Amino acid sequence: MTAPAVDDLARDTAPLPWAGGSPTGVAVAGWGHALPVRRVTNDDLARTLDTSDEWIAERTGIRERRVSGAGESTGPLAVSASRAALDRAGLTATDVDVVVVATSTPERLIPSTAAIVAAELGITGGAFDLNAACAGFVYGLTTTAALIGQGMARIALVVGADTLTRFTDPDDRSTAVLFGDAAGALVVAGTDTSDGDGAVGPGSAAPGLVSCDLVGDPGGIDLLVVPAGGSARPATADTVAAREHYLQMDGREVFRRAVRAVAASVDRTLARAGCKAGDVAWFIPHQANARIVDAVLPRVGIPPERTVSNVDRFGNTSAASIPLALAEEADSDRLATGDLVLVCGFGAGLTVGTALWRWGTPA
Ligand code: ACO
Repeated sequence: MTAPAVDDLARDTAPLPWAGGSPTGVAVAGWGHALPVRRVTNDDLARTLDTSDEWIAERTGIRERRVSGAGESTGPLAVSASRAALDRAGLTATDVDVVVVATSTPERLIPSTAAIVAAELGITGGAFDLNAACAGFVYGLTTTAALIGQGMARIALVVGADTLTRFTDPDDRSTAVLFGDAAGALVVAGTDTSDGDGAVGPGSAAPGLVSCDLVGDPGGIDLLVVPAGGSARPATADTVAAREHYLQMDGREVFRRAVRAVAASVDRTLARAGCKAGDVAWFIPHQANARIVDAVLPRVGIPPERTVSNVDRFGNTSAASIPLALAEEADSDRLATGDLVLVCGFGAGLTVGTALWRWGTPA
């Protein structure tokens, strides 16, 4: 069967069923991020690769990235971001009902990175990993909002953490220049709005998830792949010698499909909320490539000055890129209560996730 083209992936934009139905708002109680110490500039890469600062900056917008060293793998970065988010929230491990870590570069295949975070911090709530590649944090955020909205958790820790530099061939200039390592975390908490502003959803002032769009482009399944190390092709000396444990990517086709899929997903998310681009206070897209964002903005009608960008400093940090940018925005006090924040991630699969979130901290 031929996979559908991206243009055929249209979906309806009717309001989502929960809109107007749930009395539970979801406030952001805390946020935090963690970065490796080592900064690697484009000039540093040009010393060992046939590339240049000019090529990388012009094609991607990236100037430098952080590369993990000893003790800075996905688990420790996720723990450190989580600890910062809990401290910021004034909460302790015993308050957390569930930990979700979005990652495609887990600390180990077994156990989950979420379980490692929970063990390290002393959290006895549920813990699970979620892999939606670079879109993972948006899937984690919507999942925790749903758990809270359904009364299955009160306080959740949602983390995006990746160390893709450890899965990138240092000799492949088409991928080695793109990625950086990081983790970002939010503590989200249910707030009872039943006698306040009314239900979450379009028209409500309650904090939390207003609308979302979780979609895929199956035609892009082979565009971003780590061929070996999974059950289909377990790692052997041969797979390592063939460098099949490293990420392989058709960057040009990912670029083309990402622009169209992201623009369509943003449009659907806003339509479901009954919102216009002008209602969005801040747009935080996945930080893969500044040119992808530049191509998306005119299509969705959001101006650059309301779009958050840090790809120049951190490169593509995969599932960490959105919570990292969100944590920096929150630290800078640019986010105000009631702001509509639009987050959109896209990555291997191709998997796309967009969420419109009304920003608010617990009263
Ligand atoms: N330095 C110098 N030259 C390079 C480099 C480099 N680092 N990388 C590639 N080139 C060369 C190519 O070999 C090619 O040379 P040729 O014309 O002689 O064959 C030329 O530059 C153009 O190559 P393209 O691949 O066509 O370059 P493009 O403009 O498409 O940029 C890039 C490449 C930056 C990878 C772009 O396609 C891109 O960003 N794609 C999206 C990738 C992405 O976002 N991936 C992550 C998704 S998220 C996730 O799930 C991990």
